[in-house]
Amino acid sequence: CGIVGYIGHRDAFPIVIKGLQRLEYRGYDSAGIALYDGNKINLSKTKGKVEDLKNKAKEISLEGSIGIGHTRWATHGVPNDVNSHPHYSNSGNLVIIHNGIIENYEAIKQELTKRGYVFKSDTDTEVLVNLIEEVKKTEDVKLGKAVQIALNQVVGAYAIAVFDVEKPDEIVVAKLGSPLAIGIGDNEFFIASDASPFIEFTNNAVYLEDEEMAIIRLGKEIKLRKIKDDSVAYPRILELQMNLEEIEKGGYDHFMLKEIYEQPRAIKDTYRGRLLADQGLVKMSGIEQNMEKFINANRIIIVACGTSWHAGLVAEYIFEDLARIPVEVEYASEFRYRNPVITDKDVLIAISQSGETADTLAAIKLAKEKGAFVFGVCNVVGSSIARETDAGAYTHAGPEIGVASTKAFTTQITVLTLIALRLAKAKGEFSETKYREYLTELETIPSKVEKSLESNALIEIIADVYKDSTNCLYLGRGYNFPVALEGALKLKEISYIHAEGYPAAEMKHGPIALIDEHMPVFVIATKKGHYEKVVSNIQEIKSRKGKIIAIVTEGDEQVRDLADHVIEVPETLESLTPLLTTIPLQLLSYHIAVMRGCNVDQPRNLAKSVTVE
Ligand code: G6P
Repeated sequence: CGIVGYIGHRDAFPIVIKGLQRLEYRGYDSAGIALYDGNKINLSKTKGKVEDLKNKAKEISLEGSIGIGHTRWATHGVPNDVNSHPHYSNSGNLVIIHNGIIENYEAIKQELTKRGYVFKSDTDTEVLVNLIEEVKKTEDVKLGKAVQIALNQVVGAYAIAVFDVEKPDEIVVAKLGSPLAIGIGDNEFFIASDASPFIEFTNNAVYLEDEEMAIIRLGKEIKLRKIKDDSVAYPRILELQMNLEEIEKGGYDHFMLKEIYEQPRAIKDTYRGRLLADQGLVKMSGIEQNMEKFINANRIIIVACGTSWHAGLVAEYIFEDLARIPVEVEYASEFRYRNPVITDKDVLIAISQSGETADTLAAIKLAKEKGAFVFGVCNVVGSSIARETDAGAYTHAGPEIGVASTKAFTTQITVLTLIALRLAKAKGEFSETKYREYLTELETIPSKVEKSLESNALIEIIADVYKDSTNCLYLGRGYNFPVALEGALKLKEISYIHAEGYPAAEMKHGPIALIDEHMPVFVIATKKGHYEKVVSNIQEIKSRKGKIIAIVTEGDEQVRDLADHVIEVPETLESLTPLLTTIPLQLLSYHIAVMRGCNVDQPRNLAKSVTVE
């Protein structure tokens, strides 16, 4: 979910609405807003998108320079008007917005029900706001204190903002697990899940740490406190780097398409200053400072979710192949709950675009407890994972807004390749000549990605042929097996066509049973690696009448003769092919989704940043 708040001298409505639109990547099942007009709270909420809320809110007074808003990704209770945030307390004096989950809400709800509270919604959030109200009443304390006492009784994760009509010059916020940033303007404050809602108003932000709360009062400095023991915490004001242009569509129909086309630039930004091909050097401060840890590691464990997990799988091939360090790749959600064997000789690399994924964050905490050295690969600067890890390297892809990840994936692979190369050098795995050759080739990748993007028109034609498919298979081997998984994930996510990624050779142990003339099979068959073996797999598909769409190396003849369609990518080193073969698969999913009338940037049921487990 995304939360936004404003307290200051401007009209709160447009600020909150625009902020929610920027945060829609965090969830878009329903949305709501509460405004304080100087007298009373006016609240409007609805199932659907922020655009729907904008229309619905016409029914209420939009006056006021204090407001809070929410865009939801449902956890407790179906997405409907009633379950949408903000939620009132029973007296109607308090309103709350909440991102996260209150795990013990049932027990609290029962207790409050006994005391006469009634609940309109099925949400954990409505329970929390009433708990705050109950504490306020029984303990006879002000809002800030009541929030603190209440939060000490809940188990779970939250970023909340609470407003009280009896204390109308302040908003109380608190954080545990879910992110919360406060923008500091000139006698005005902004509250949001990330800084994008207030970037045009101020460059100064405070990110709350876990278990911190703040009372944001007009005309006063922000006061931070520790929720547990009420001790004072000091706000660390950060200067933001983001600019407005980066979070707007810039002439493209969708953020996803813009982000696909940004990849040559993004990859270059990722290696800028780190890859010094002419000097035969890779320099990354997070690695240099911790070289011993990496070199002496028993193994590297990579944890991630979704697309980032796929980047982790590519990294497994690169690290083992180039740096000769054993690697395991795990879903963060599985790792954290399976009592893994971790020692202080292990290095854990956590990969996350948002730097906020709850499962990944929990996996990091677990590994740290067990003494492992934890390294983060994140895109969002200052994110929770970036702060929680011992060291790290940013991907520098720029904000990724489309829910389906594109440039985050290729830049993650770029960073991980740089790390593998640096470690390979330190371990003496490469000759100087081979090393330089590698670095020089890596520098050509942005222009080769550019070249791969030139197939866009052809891909559109292919997309039109297969847009009505109900199932698709994606196959690849070696470095391109994870690309097959990622290709299938992209299609599933945005076009709702069922798709499966498989190692090409494993096809004969199952998926081959599905192949007939209706089944499109996307095969990555680039020249290096297991080319001949993939060609045999293509023959197997062909003899079962499957439709073959192959991603091949420029100039390929053999596969062209067998396949129904071929899409070419430039030649490169085998380990760098994922950076190119991914591109046509991204475009293909994009066009199919557009043709099917799907909401490409905000596919149903998904969220970009999943801050609940
Ligand atoms: C969500 C997003 C995916 C993303 C995954 C992991 O499911 O929809 O696109 O790959 O989370 O997110 P992270 O921010 O940790 O990379």
